[in-house]
Amino acid sequence: MTILTEKNETYAPDWWKNQVVYQIYPRSFCDSNGDGIGDLQGIISKLDYLQRLGVGILWLSPVYLSPMDDNGYDISDYYQIAQEYGSMDDMEMLIRQAGLRGMRILMDLVANHTSDEHAWFKSASKDRQSPYRDFYVWREGDKGFPPSDLISIFGGSAWEYNVPTEDYYLHMFSRRQPDLNWHNPAVRKEIYKIICFWMDKGVGGFRIDTLDMIGKDVDAGRIYETEETHAYIREMNRQTFGPSSLLTVGETSSADLDSALRYASIDGKEISMIFQFEHVHLDRAAVRDKWPIVSLDFLRFKEVMSRWQTLQGRAWTSLYLNNHDQPRALSRWGNDSGYRVRCAKMMATMLHTMWGTPFIYQGEEIGMTNAGFDSIEDYRDLDSLRAWREMLDKGVQEDEVMRRLKVKSRDNARTPMQWNNEPGAGFTSGEAWIGINPNHLQINVHEDTSDPDGIFSYYQKLIKMRAGESLLVEGIYELLLPDDPEVFAFLRRGEQTSLLTVCNFYGGRPHFNWPQDMHAEGMQLILSNLPDAPCDQTGFVLQPYEARVYRI
Ligand code: GLC
Ligand code: CA
Repeated sequence: MTILTEKNETYAPDWWKNQVVYQIYPRSFCDSNGDGIGDLQGIISKLDYLQRLGVGILWLSPVYLSPMDDNGYDISDYYQIAQEYGSMDDMEMLIRQAGLRGMRILMDLVANHTSDEHAWFKSASKDRQSPYRDFYVWREGDKGFPPSDLISIFGGSAWEYNVPTEDYYLHMFSRRQPDLNWHNPAVRKEIYKIICFWMDKGVGGFRIDTLDMIGKDVDAGRIYETEETHAYIREMNRQTFGPSSLLTVGETSSADLDSALRYASIDGKEISMIFQFEHVHLDRAAVRDKWPIVSLDFLRFKEVMSRWQTLQGRAWTSLYLNNHDQPRALSRWGNDSGYRVRCAKMMATMLHTMWGTPFIYQGEEIGMTNAGFDSIEDYRDLDSLRAWREMLDKGVQEDEVMRRLKVKSRDNARTPMQWNNEPGAGFTSGEAWIGINPNHLQINVHEDTSDPDGIFSYYQKLIKMRAGESLLVEGIYELLLPDDPEVFAFLRRGEQTSLLTVCNFYGGRPHFNWPQDMHAEGMQLILSNLPDAPCDQTGFVLQPYEARVYRI
């Protein structure tokens, strides 16, 4: 079955299954007018680059009108484009120009909360009789204290006192991001209207921010994934994107496998896929305490990644190591110095040969590394700045606080895209809104793409491979060597042939033995991150950070 879109192009309902998504953080991608802030015309100027990479879907972090308290994840008008990013004409041009190159735009839908500058909130916070009062979550204080001791994700109370109405509103993120009250049908109707507006503009789908929080029961203290959450998603599906072929990706930090089966079941009643967080929570002190530095337990990492693969056949999933909320995986779990290029390719090999839809975050395709700012003045992320203050107040030593930010801050992934080795890194002709990584002198698009063995060209191969290799879409995932402390190896089994991925995650030289039922004669090397990949009857010795893919 195929569905005809307005533009008369045909998309199968599951068109994204052999595609790769590329995430753009618009503020840091490309600045076309020298004000130091990335913009839509900047993105348009790089569409040929993205087409060459081979990605089929471009997810834009929010570009709507916003006071930018949380870099656009605080929307003040869903029907307008942020002035610093451009105009609605630019947005339409981007959708059209991407479409001409075979790429669809994924909008970031932030609907758990709005900005405090949204007209709804401005009205609701003025007086209790406002027609928008019930669009937000208001509670009476408790003898001068907040209604409950609920803590926001960005720290501190989730309740903010509002002087004109003499009560408190809920904000699960910053106090400038008041939570919408999804239990109010009028709110849901407005959100569905917004979705339809963007569908009419021709976008290819939505990444839905903090989707697991929309049905919260704040009085019962149940914030994540209630029955209402699923009921509202099913309603949204029926009333908006359900009958279309749009790609919908829900951000669900609380999801486990059972919830994934509800959100992203192949029955298509809710959404296409979710972002699960289990693997990116592994190096946290606790789920809600990200700052202390904890090393990755590699065996658990393999176990978690593999457990999510068991949804195969019943749901669909996303695959990611990087995004705008995470430090760069290459610095975090890999080697970003001596073996940077080889390690970037190794990590990509692992991710892109698993079951699911891979997501690339801007700069990943050239092996960009953490910013690692040394001075607090360099940080821009509101969460990092708040955590800095909070940790100092709690008595954590200043050098330890700075070490934590350097490793864990979201700003690590938010520095400007490194296009070339010029002073503005080819990102801007002016002064960038956030520091440019000094390593842009060596690490940049120009440099990497001039090398036929660069990271970019390796990603091109992986993306091309996914498009043409049904085993990558359908092959049954099977983890090998679960207890090996250095090697991540797995099969994608098909009926006639299978694929074998072998990745060395560390700097040693372990020996890999061919799996029991397989013999050297039947192995065809189809991808490797080293020029030579010798093997013998027993198997082969892996070089540091080596990766190989065989067809069997
Ligand atoms: C999501 C976004 C993050 C943002 C938060 C609040 O987690 O990815 O960047 O700060 O929601 O909207
Ligand atoms: Ca600009």
